[in-house]
Amino acid sequence: MAFLGEEAAMNAPLPNAPQPRPSVLAIDAYVPGKSAAAGGGKVHKLSSNETPLGPSPKAVEAFKAAAGDLSLYPEGSSRVLREAIGRRYGLDPAQILCGNGSDELLHMLAQVYLGPGDEGLYSQFGFLEYPIVIRAAGATPVVAPERDFVADVDALLARVTDRTKLVYLANPNNPTGTYLPFNEVKRLHAGLPAHVLLVLDAAYAEYVARNDYAAGIELVATSNNVVMTRTFSKIHGLANLRIGWAYAPAGVIDALNRVRAPFNLNGPAIAAGAAAIADTAHVDAAAAHNARWMDWLTKELAALGVTATPSVGNFLLLHFMEGPKNAAAADAFLSARGFILRAVGAYGLPNCLRLTIGSDEANRGVVDALRSFIADGK
Ligand SMILES: Cc1ncc(COP(=O)(O)O)c(C=O)c1O
Repeated sequence: MAFLGEEAAMNAPLPNAPQPRPSVLAIDAYVPGKSAAAGGGKVHKLSSNETPLGPSPKAVEAFKAAAGDLSLYPEGSSRVLREAIGRRYGLDPAQILCGNGSDELLHMLAQVYLGPGDEGLYSQFGFLEYPIVIRAAGATPVVAPERDFVADVDALLARVTDRTKLVYLANPNNPTGTYLPFNEVKRLHAGLPAHVLLVLDAAYAEYVARNDYAAGIELVATSNNVVMTRTFSKIHGLANLRIGWAYAPAGVIDALNRVRAPFNLNGPAIAAGAAAIADTAHVDAAAAHNARWMDWLTKELAALGVTATPSVGNFLLLHFMEGPKNAAAADAFLSARGFILRAVGAYGLPNCLRLTIGSDEANRGVVDALRSFIADGK
């Protein structure tokens, strides 16, 4: 077995071997949330913002039914899924494009609209995929500071230059859980030059219950330079199938289709996604579960003296104290008891952990474990 340093040196490209573009080697690869804990007891994975309710039973049924056709290529444009999404939100399926997770769509947007010399803009604690996809396209990531863990429209606009081609805004944002009201999103859009593409990443939109929030459908419909991305990985409980979608102006859809892999979604995913989006009762149940436990957790954490950033998503960013009760110690303590949270040091938040709202048992258990950690945990 190699030591870490040795391994990195072994993995670096040899001088006489094919060389990746330098911008690729500047990327820190995305590290997903942990899914296992030491010890072998029951594990509650609260590290990836998955839903504790799982997918709609109708989606599972559709997935199983699709197993009979595994030897056939899928329909390449995900038509059945685009039509189901169109029916659900009253959108023209021709302006919807499906991706292998919304991750793929974020990548494709960067590939199509960014190149060397261009700048891609995002906010300080914005989703970590953004610098990855911007660099992968050979462009330069530019970061705007946030205020109290909320994206700052003025700071974003102040960093727009002649080179800016694309702005990514997660709304609500992961890992902070904060959001920009729609009037602020519109102010951001109004301040961008017409040639800059604004990508509204609304992966958690279905969880938001605020009158002043909008995922961005209206803005896409009324402009030429806004794209909204959505996912089936969160409230729909289909993270394993990798399904995302974008609603975009016809010109953007056309450009994305030129680079899209011909069969980027598989048939079982298309069938399950179409069933999931039609099962609004299941989505409502997941949102209600989340709202109830978000309230409960917020109160219990406050009573323990753990600060949590107010969140409209299905997760909370917890802030720990410096010293022996810091985030790393909490992470180790909780992991040893089967509660896997998300370390967010890579976001520049080394003393925070992100907690996904889980099942009744997981939520009660993680609060009990945190209470022990704060009382006497080492
Ligand atoms: C803000 C945000 N956008 C996009 C994604 C990507 O989701 P997926 O590729 O599973 O659709 C995530 C997943 O964590 C996210 O948090």
